Amino acid sequence: MCGIIGYCGHRPAVPLVLEGLKRLEYRGYDSAGLAFLQVSKLEIIRSEGKLCRLEEKVAQTANTFAPISIGHTRWATHGLPVEKNAHPHASNSGAVAIVHNGIIENFQEIKDELLAKGYVFHSETDTEVLANCIADELDGLLQRHFGKSYAGAAQEFAENAQENSLQYLELMEKAFAKALQKAHGAYAVVLLSPLVPKHILAARLAAPLLMGIGIGEYFVASDVPAFLPYTRDVVFLDDREYVVISSGGYAVKNLYTAEPVQKEIHHIPWDLQGAAKDGFKHFMLKEIMEQPKVLRDCLAGRVQNGRICLPELDNMPVPESIRIIACGTSYNAGLWSQYYLEQFAQLPVTVEIASEFRYRKPILNSRELIVVISQSGETADTLGALRLCREKGYPVLGICNVLGSSVAREASACLYTQAGPEISVASTKAMLSQMVVLLLLALYFGQRRNTACPAEEVLAELRRLPDVLEGTLADMREKAKEFAYKYAFAKSFFYLGRGTAYALALEGALKLKELSYIHAEGYATGEMKHGPIALIDPEFPAFALAFDDENFGKVRSGILEVKSRQGKVIALLQEGTVLDCEDLWYIPKTAIPEFLALPAMQLFSYEMADYLGKDVDQPRNLAKSVTVE
Ligand code: M6R
Repeated sequence: MCGIIGYCGHRPAVPLVLEGLKRLEYRGYDSAGLAFLQVSKLEIIRSEGKLCRLEEKVAQTANTFAPISIGHTRWATHGLPVEKNAHPHASNSGAVAIVHNGIIENFQEIKDELLAKGYVFHSETDTEVLANCIADELDGLLQRHFGKSYAGAAQEFAENAQENSLQYLELMEKAFAKALQKAHGAYAVVLLSPLVPKHILAARLAAPLLMGIGIGEYFVASDVPAFLPYTRDVVFLDDREYVVISSGGYAVKNLYTAEPVQKEIHHIPWDLQGAAKDGFKHFMLKEIMEQPKVLRDCLAGRVQNGRICLPELDNMPVPESIRIIACGTSYNAGLWSQYYLEQFAQLPVTVEIASEFRYRKPILNSRELIVVISQSGETADTLGALRLCREKGYPVLGICNVLGSSVAREASACLYTQAGPEISVASTKAMLSQMVVLLLLALYFGQRRNTACPAEEVLAELRRLPDVLEGTLADMREKAKEFAYKYAFAKSFFYLGRGTAYALALEGALKLKELSYIHAEGYATGEMKHGPIALIDPEFPAFALAFDDENFGKVRSGILEVKSRQGKVIALLQEGTVLDCEDLWYIPKTAIPEFLALPAMQLFSYEMADYLGKDVDQPRNLAKSVTVE
């Protein structure tokens, strides 16, 4: 949650930080703010609501040519999304301003100590507590070295900043580290101070933070798109590390020992184009339409001479069972794969919601393979589950989209989904790519276990699918529009599916509710008669997935049961099948219809949300990556 950025360099920092925040807005968008130094004085501009409100405010500010600035776009955790809670937060003394992503769990304890010392708080945030905690540590150090606190002699310190710059920086680093050592929970925090006007400090613990290396300019941010127009050279910070940047260079150090840490520089393979809308009205639409390419990219290099090549796994033993752990859409992808893993690899598979898994007392065993799935690789619950398993000594396979993310780095092995940046909060192409990887995983273990799985047929279908999908997406969109307009009256929706369509039904319902705010529930078709069917009436429609497989007859009966209670049904069918239903939606025939049904449902939710005037890319109350519990 929350997007943060810091910049030191030769360009005007404020417009650059605003631009960077725009590319991070998917991470949180209920309020925003930035800080910069103007003649050694800390200036903070904050605003409630979306970034455009902050832009308006900044435009009214006379001088924004400062070469150093930090910024934040927020997804509220502590206190309402109002201006006083927006970041940056300054300490009482004005010695530091910070932006923060994460949650300081012991903030109340620290706040009580600071209150007792006379500090006052203007917001409800844990971040303001952290800002004052750093300032308090700093005051202690300044007192010891210069006989006065910042609070007492701010002007004097500012005037001497040039002369004492190295000493001030050393003290600031110490204060920063000491305060962060007290903080429990999760943070990525970036600090700006008039005492060290040429430097930015940043640190992380269980929240994403990376540094961009340009020529005579350095960046820190929550995600690569923030600084992608300027550099693709990136250093991923690890937990309990901090970095000091200036226009002249950077130093990464251990937060506890202040020892320098050597870091690898990674080159990001995609450019800004991948993170731009490309003429589409929304990122979500662009990302749905990209899916034929995603299918191709995800398969690339993974099938050779009819065999599945996943060299990342070749050193792992063949497991006796598989346990999949994930959240949200990634969980749905995992649930979908259960059917194929059991069928093709003939391995028992359990699928778990990460937030539940990590607080049970799960009985694990060394013969099972634990798989965590996460688009962002930063989801707190999924990461927590991964860490729990790793701490107990079990290897974990990560399936992840974001290069260098925490899941990718902390898993024993990682299969990248290669879907490219997904900006829209609603996950679309990421799920499709996860499904490809999971299907390959099922075939791969089938291969290693010599099961009688129809690998050749499945691979032939997978190779054919990008063209089929490409050829059908435009028609699909028209059909999605037609049904979205017709059903926009609905207050609630059922999504029904059986077998491999069950997980898709859950996903269809998730997409509809998160985008259009229409209540929707996904059900296994066979479960309807056990209770939910009581809700059916002409105002409560169902979206039914009826694939041409061994379940078709039973699914048809389920649909007819809904219809005979006057329920309206949109039935998604494969060409060549028939159903007695008014609203039929045909998709081309293939042996793995989920790869076509998924984009159809995504388009339906997209068109519904757009028709109803909802904020498609940034639905209310949500954020792209949920880095808090
Ligand atoms: O990045 P992750 O795949 O770990 O994210 C998991 C969920 O937060 C995510 O899929 C969420 O459910 C999406 N908003 C769904 O569209």
